[in-house]
Amino acid sequence: MSSLVFVKGFLFCHVFMPAVFSFSKSAIGSIDHGFGKHDGGTLFIEHVHYVLDVEPEISVSTYDKIMCAFKCLHQSFCLSFNYDARSPGNNSCELLSKNKYTLSERFQPSQFFNHYSLMSPCENGPCKKGAKCNPLYGSNGYYCERSPGSIEQGSPWIKLNKNVVCFGAKNDAFGNFTVTSHGTILTMRLVYISGFVTCNNRTVPYGSHWACKKGSRIATIVTSAAKNVIFPEDYKNKSYSLVGYHANSSELVFPPRSKPLKVTNGEEYQIWYNEDFVNGEEFNNGGQTCVNVYALYES
Ligand SMILES: *[C@@H]1O[C@H](CO)[C@@H](O)[C@H](O)[C@H]1NC(C)=O
Ligand SMILES: *[C@@H]1O[C@H](CO)[C@@H](O)[C@H](O)[C@H]1NC(C)=O
Ligand SMILES: *[C@@H]1O[C@H](CO)[C@@H](O)[C@H](O)[C@H]1NC(C)=O
Ligand SMILES: *[C@@H]1O[C@H](CO)[C@@H](O)[C@H](O)[C@H]1NC(C)=O
Ligand SMILES: *[C@@H]1O[C@H](CO)[C@@H](O)[C@H](O)[C@H]1NC(C)=O
Repeated sequence: MSSLVFVKGFLFCHVFMPAVFSFSKSAIGSIDHGFGKHDGGTLFIEHVHYVLDVEPEISVSTYDKIMCAFKCLHQSFCLSFNYDARSPGNNSCELLSKNKYTLSERFQPSQFFNHYSLMSPCENGPCKKGAKCNPLYGSNGYYCERSPGSIEQGSPWIKLNKNVVCFGAKNDAFGNFTVTSHGTILTMRLVYISGFVTCNNRTVPYGSHWACKKGSRIATIVTSAAKNVIFPEDYKNKSYSLVGYHANSSELVFPPRSKPLKVTNGEEYQIWYNEDFVNGEEFNNGGQTCVNVYALYES
């Protein structure tokens, strides 16, 4: 596979200087291409004699791969394209809403097609074996998923809180923080710093980081200031299980929201212990857990 690359924005401003087609992935610069996908040096990588074998959203006729790239750039859904070099101008340009990282089993050698995918940190294979890399095109980031909804790793995590956030387990002792970076959030990550919470203050040692006691289901949630539950998205007023994490994990990473969350500067969010939130049996609860909060921004 060769790796012919070109910059979205560069294409748009200076139509095809030969230098744009260099056989290197390096440093052509970072230019805002203005197609609603955020800046950050978005590139296409060429895979000669490969195809991403999925149903195209649109097939169009273009006379070369460059025009096909333009068509892709103009469609917000377009993450990659197949170009059939056999028959220029004959529906040879297939615009795809999928990418080769999350559908790696469909990325196959092909006699006739070349495949072009938007550059992403996933190209460097940052995920551990067995985990899929999901590109976040807007922020030039990614996250790794072992099974649907179980995020293992990702970048860049932006810290949301200025001061450490502490939440208790009774008497509306939520912890809160104010978002300082506006954008679209895919998921949040709570990193344990200190303390314990419990649903039974006779538990020794005092409960666990996120739940009632060792082995309990997770009881820590994130809400808006208006008390709408943000994470976990499918919260049912009960403690819940989170694949890959337990009551005493050093961090919690929530499954990404099906519809990413738009946040604005100055917006307040809260962290609650489940029973305290629903005013359940909280009279014998106790303790306090302190955390830092990070978010994976899509854009
Ligand atoms: C265009 O493509 C169609 C189907 O892919 C094929 O039947 C037809 O022969 C092609 N025409 C030319 C001029 O290549
Ligand atoms: C947290 O909540 C308290 C009480 O509602 C409020 O006074 C404070 O400004 C909030 N802090 C942040 C960082 O949002
Ligand atoms: C939870 O982890 C802490 C260290 O952060 C440890 O002191 C405590 O014993 C653990 N609790 C349980 C119930 O495993
Ligand atoms: C959770 O509790 C709230 C307030 O008591 C209620 O309005 C809501 O319907 C409950 N949701 C579920 C899924 O039980
Ligand atoms: C535990 O909770 C009970 C019931 O609210 C309370 O009377 C008691 O003082 C608490 N003990 C501690 C150590 O917080």
